[in-house]
Amino acid sequence: MNESFPLLIKIGFLSLKLLNNDGFWKMQQNIFNRFRDIAYERAGISLGEQKKELVSARVAKRQRALNIPNVRDYLQYLESEHNGDELIHFLDAISTNFTHFMREKSHFELLESELIHWKKNGCEKFRIWCAASSSGEEPYSLAITVADTFGAALPDVRILATDINTTVLKTASAGEYPEKALEALSRQQRMNYFEQLQTDKGDEKWYRAKPGIRDLLIFKRLNLATPPYPMKGPLDVVFCRNVMIYFDRVVRQRLISEVERLIKPEGLLIIGHSETLAGLTTGLKAVKPSVYRKVS
Ligand SMILES: C[S@@+](CC[C@H](N)C(=O)[O-])C[C@H]1O[C@@H](n2cnc3c(N)ncnc32)[C@H](O)[C@@H]1O
Repeated sequence: MNESFPLLIKIGFLSLKLLNNDGFWKMQQNIFNRFRDIAYERAGISLGEQKKELVSARVAKRQRALNIPNVRDYLQYLESEHNGDELIHFLDAISTNFTHFMREKSHFELLESELIHWKKNGCEKFRIWCAASSSGEEPYSLAITVADTFGAALPDVRILATDINTTVLKTASAGEYPEKALEALSRQQRMNYFEQLQTDKGDEKWYRAKPGIRDLLIFKRLNLATPPYPMKGPLDVVFCRNVMIYFDRVVRQRLISEVERLIKPEGLLIIGHSETLAGLTTGLKAVKPSVYRKVS
């Protein structure tokens, strides 16, 4: 059967619906299973059965971009290009990148008080890692928190922002956001850390992060599913939020063991509010829900 085109098979007065509600072709189970295996093997991402329609829609976009009408041909192309560009595009297409500025705000308040405490105790150098930084709202929120905390007396601070998705990393390093995206920031923060873009991008005003905070950030592609990670550490704080939900226990364990290795004694790991390290082997101690410390 040709899987390229939508079709309603009519058998007598019975009609068999082969399109999902968005009008996309329903993907056959064995094809979905292959995409699912690739996502798991290459990025540690576990795609449940409920993701079938999403995968189908995202794969269809890649097929259109490459002008490969048949999904089996696309799969073959993807598999033959296993270490190449298409794998990156495929992983970009299936990853979920929802984020926003100052998401789960209490974490940024906690960061501020930890930085003040460490600075009082003589610490002059801070290394922060944002481990699934998506389109940049989270690492820029970290940079803004650091800049607000220290003002003109800024110590030696570097924030490494990583993600597997090259498309969102490009957005992040451009540091340009529409006015609406900046709503979670105070007026003062927007004025201090963003400048309005002169070029038109539709009706909305757009802003770009100023060099003062951009200079604190380094963006790199990093796949959390393939340790060991290339950083040396020690890191003061790791934000690894809302990414473990896509991983099974095996991948989460690998990730947490690496993070634990990289964090300095007394350093912090911050995960998403809906995530937990329960069931994993780790020496990191829960300080409060979603916040862990490496005890010396
Ligand atoms: C839902 S977003 C979370 C963004 C941000 N941390 C937040 O909490 O707002 C999940 C991010 O994890 C990234 N991701 C998924 N699998 C990954 C992997 N194996 N390695 C690195 N990043 C991954 C996705 O590309 C996406 O940008």
